Amino acid sequence: MSPAAAFFEDIWVMVNDGVYEPAEDTFMLCANLETTPDDTVLELGTGCGLVAIVAARTGAKVIATDQSPLAIQNAKSNVAFHNLQNQIEIRQGSFFDPIKPDEQFSLIAFNPPYLPGTTKDPAFDPTWSGGTEGREVTENFLSQCSKYLLPTGRLLLIQSTLSDPKKTRAHLEQRYHTVQIKAEKAFFFERLLLFEAQNPINTSKLKKL
Ligand SMILES: C[S@@+](CC[C@H](N)C(=O)[O-])C[C@H]1O[C@@H](n2cnc3c(N)ncnc32)[C@H](O)[C@@H]1O
Repeated sequence: MSPAAAFFEDIWVMVNDGVYEPAEDTFMLCANLETTPDDTVLELGTGCGLVAIVAARTGAKVIATDQSPLAIQNAKSNVAFHNLQNQIEIRQGSFFDPIKPDEQFSLIAFNPPYLPGTTKDPAFDPTWSGGTEGREVTENFLSQCSKYLLPTGRLLLIQSTLSDPKKTRAHLEQRYHTVQIKAEKAFFFERLLLFEAQNPINTSKLKKL
């Protein structure tokens, strides 16, 4: 199959075979990035790179990662097409493996594989299958995320009502000062949610109170 094209507003990208084709979840994330030139952004699971490119168009610096070599190759060529190599660095690896321990970001954005599905399913696809209940990737991400956020940083995370977003909300509310559903959209089989969480609580300070 030949590559597909996808776009958000005036930004076009090519989407190669084996790479997640931007959909409503991608566009919800793109529409709510609200980056500024001062932002340092980490986009996990960048796929073809569209979210990273939208984040960078305001002047923000972006690191975009993916575990899939196909996605990395695709994102690199889209970033080069938009001449954004000076602003967007693409790194391959799973979760926070490609991030150095001292790197922290003002925004971390992730549209994870969130649908129920395991490697035992014939239709398994690592671009959207998030484990038996659709939560494995999300929970692994959440368990590590706050240490890579600046004290005033913000997290944007796509979730679906098909994979128990109440658990995500509960996790976020325990660790961040403010948690809100920044955007949502209903479809006939699910509701997509975009969680925004801000300001990880500094537990060392709390203990002193
Ligand atoms: C739903 S797609 C989103 C792609 C793109 N960000 C978008 O919004 O169109 C999820 C992406 O996460 C990547 N991914 C899955 N598990 C990952 C992991 N453990 N670490 C990094 N990337 C992962 C997949 O390869 C896929 O590109």
